[in-house]
Amino acid sequence: MTETLPTAPEAAADAAAVAASDPGPAVESLDTIVSLAKRRGFVFPSSEIYGGINAVWDYGPLGVELKNNVKRAWWRAMVQERDDIVGLDAGILMHPQVWVTSGHVESFSDPMVECATDKRRFRLDELPGTEDLTESDKRDPGIVERLGLKCPIDGGPLSAPRHFNLMFRTHMGPVEDDGAVVYLRPETAQGSYVNFKNVAQSMRRKLPFGIAQVGKSFRNEISPGSFVFRMREFEQMEMQYFVRPAEASRIFEEWLPRRWRWYTRYGVAERRLRFREHAPDELAHYAKKAVDVEYRFPFGWKELEGIHNRGDWDLGRHQAASGENLEYFDPQANESFVPWVVETAGGPDRAAFTFLIDAYREEEVRGEKRVSLALHPELAPYKVAVLPLLKKRPEIVQLCQRLVTDLRRDVMAVYDDTASIGKLYRRQDEIGTPWCVTVDVESLEDAAVTVRDRDTMMQERISVEQVHRFITDRLAAARQGEPAA
Ligand code: GAP
Repeated sequence: MTETLPTAPEAAADAAAVAASDPGPAVESLDTIVSLAKRRGFVFPSSEIYGGINAVWDYGPLGVELKNNVKRAWWRAMVQERDDIVGLDAGILMHPQVWVTSGHVESFSDPMVECATDKRRFRLDELPGTEDLTESDKRDPGIVERLGLKCPIDGGPLSAPRHFNLMFRTHMGPVEDDGAVVYLRPETAQGSYVNFKNVAQSMRRKLPFGIAQVGKSFRNEISPGSFVFRMREFEQMEMQYFVRPAEASRIFEEWLPRRWRWYTRYGVAERRLRFREHAPDELAHYAKKAVDVEYRFPFGWKELEGIHNRGDWDLGRHQAASGENLEYFDPQANESFVPWVVETAGGPDRAAFTFLIDAYREEEVRGEKRVSLALHPELAPYKVAVLPLLKKRPEIVQLCQRLVTDLRRDVMAVYDDTASIGKLYRRQDEIGTPWCVTVDVESLEDAAVTVRDRDTMMQERISVEQVHRFITDRLAAARQGEPAA
């Protein structure tokens, strides 16, 4: 077959079309976010005083607030606002047979190559020149030769790809023999499958219904990186929706816009999101169909969340291997069957990272650079900062303390007097605090304070008595809108 090659102008037009459809990242350089995250207490390298440990990150005082808010927002949309989904918190360690049955022991692996000279290891599909690799290419032992791939560091020869299982193994009990091998879970999903019957019976659930979980997962990634995008220890927010087989395709399609809307509801720009369907040979071992919600990160379009039609793979396999009957009796149709699963699989690390990037703003205000994080108020680490204009006046400081103590009954509020008011505003802008309340000398006379809005920088004067109500009303208004899921 003769291949028709594009002419130079056609190729240029194609490249221009690709560029035109690329909205570009919200922030050009990842370093901007990494440095803000470290400087302002969002994320630190793990065990930094010992030189760090690859692909593990610690959330600092503001990062833990942001991530908890992301998890709370997900839980609210997936569990609290719905009557068909319930929560679960299964163990990280599970019976080792779970991972044999699920297919992870056999198939949860990535193709790895090793450089003969410097012994560095790389994920085959992340080497330069492998952008269009298919799944069958990844299994081709001659692929390195065929594509002429070399070590990207020293140009040395690379080995043929070897499949490397991503699960961390450990031992249960004091004796390190093979009989006691257990795995750190690589996904939360299996905890929901093995508890399907417990949940359905104890909560008297009828199909369709879902089980939601948030928790740690672990993967021994070959080439982790891009900050918290790919870590070895991370968290997942996964929901398994159990359905009648005939309804699986329709329900799968319904979850796509719901999950998209959750990200836009919390501030991610539509133009930096897209859906990408997996090609048949790219599908995970359990999936019948998979669509990723992708985000335009500074390092390209990457998966933010996956939505999968897993068929009866999971419950069917667990039923066969455990001998437990996991069928559902449908009283309407008077028949029993193994439910199918539609899964939404995301993670708070990647989501928080995305919200941070997409909220980043730089602008010039009166000749100075202003950096702000336009985070949705529900996600912002602090909802309000209370600031004294003159910290030398004890009455002003006392009024600030009274306000902050009162606000803390309902929201995360902070008091700061360690700089001039201009600097204090900039600091709160940079960590995304939506409102600053300033107490000045006049406040002592008129019992009123100034509230400044992070995004518009507009200020308004309200009475001291109104402050608590003002903040909680604004928060409630920001939270309103159509239910996300
Ligand atoms: N149960 C299906 C499953 O685990 P996945 O696409 O492998 O699917 C789901 O993972 C989500 O978990 C991803 O979209 C991502 O948000 C998060 N995730 C997966 N691996 C991760 C890693 N190494 N670091 C951070 N987040 C990760």
